Amino acid sequence: MKAIRGATTVDKDGVEEIKESVKELMTEIRAQNDLKQDDVVCVMFSNTSDLHAFYPAKAAREAGFFNAPLFSALEPEIDGALQKCIRVMVLVESEKPPKHVYLRGAVALRRDVTSIINIALDGPAGSGKSTVSRLIANKLNILCLDTGAMYRACALECVKHGVSVSDEKSVNELISAINLTVKHEGGVQRTYLDGKDVSEEIRKPEMSMLASSVSALGCVRTKMVQLQREIAKMTSCILDGRDIGTNVLPEAPFKFFLTASPEVRANRRADENLLKGFNTPFEEVLADVIKRDEQDANRKIAPLKQAEDAILIDSSTMTIEEVVDLILNKIQEKI
Ligand code: DC
Repeated sequence: MKAIRGATTVDKDGVEEIKESVKELMTEIRAQNDLKQDDVVCVMFSNTSDLHAFYPAKAAREAGFFNAPLFSALEPEIDGALQKCIRVMVLVESEKPPKHVYLRGAVALRRDVTSIINIALDGPAGSGKSTVSRLIANKLNILCLDTGAMYRACALECVKHGVSVSDEKSVNELISAINLTVKHEGGVQRTYLDGKDVSEEIRKPEMSMLASSVSALGCVRTKMVQLQREIAKMTSCILDGRDIGTNVLPEAPFKFFLTASPEVRANRRADENLLKGFNTPFEEVLADVIKRDEQDANRKIAPLKQAEDAILIDSSTMTIEEVVDLILNKIQEKI
């Protein structure tokens, strides 16, 4: 018999939060250990005393894990212990060595068994970062975080509330209370404002310049960078943006700076716009790309810049597949 250990945390002592975290933890334990129903002898949960809303064992049973006996217990209150934490021990009949799983805030409990990979992919507008990071995330089975989408959501929030992006005081008030979440559904990032899916709305061409302007404000960057770091701490991911390698994750072990000539990038953006149903003339897209580069690269806080230790890739004459292969090879060389 073998024992598989695992732990995770929840943001809030709520029924849904506990159900979601337990399901995520058990899904990962099952996948990493290739478990079948019959392999499992019993599952024992414990949780810290700040969680009362739902039994983890009941959450696991409701989510279909497992037929074996399940059990939950409350942990004693211990000073300095990780908060809102759910632990599990799964006893299994198996010859294979157990793979222990620590997720979310619980990663901090066992750095020895959790190897989080963070990849920084920065570059100017239209350099292909989003497509490349989605493909790499798929290949490596990690998350991809499009940080530009978060700044676009901030810009949309300003538009929705009639706040000018040049009115820093009002933007600060609005963004400090923003209810912005990103979820990954079927490998695709969806962006939510106040629980409403705004993933398409933020891609409208007019949102690009507004996102660039709002992203230059310190209050906006502080809030977004904090969210990005929290996500990167919890899970292996590739983050695409402008300042990931220089500012968000300066310690990231893998850093790339993807670029291409303004004309090539404008062409790609114009094609993308067309696919989304926006027929923007090439000259207009090119002017927007150049203006945005200038604005993003010359702002005072965390400007668009290649990190000194980032690998520069000029994709002007490369296909997406060539860029993806190059990045994967570079990562492989270092692992
Ligand atoms: O990648 P994108 O075009 O969706 O980004 C929109 C704007 O957001 C971009 O012009 C600058 C800003 N941005 C940023 O300042 N820092 C990031 N990490 C990502 C985007």
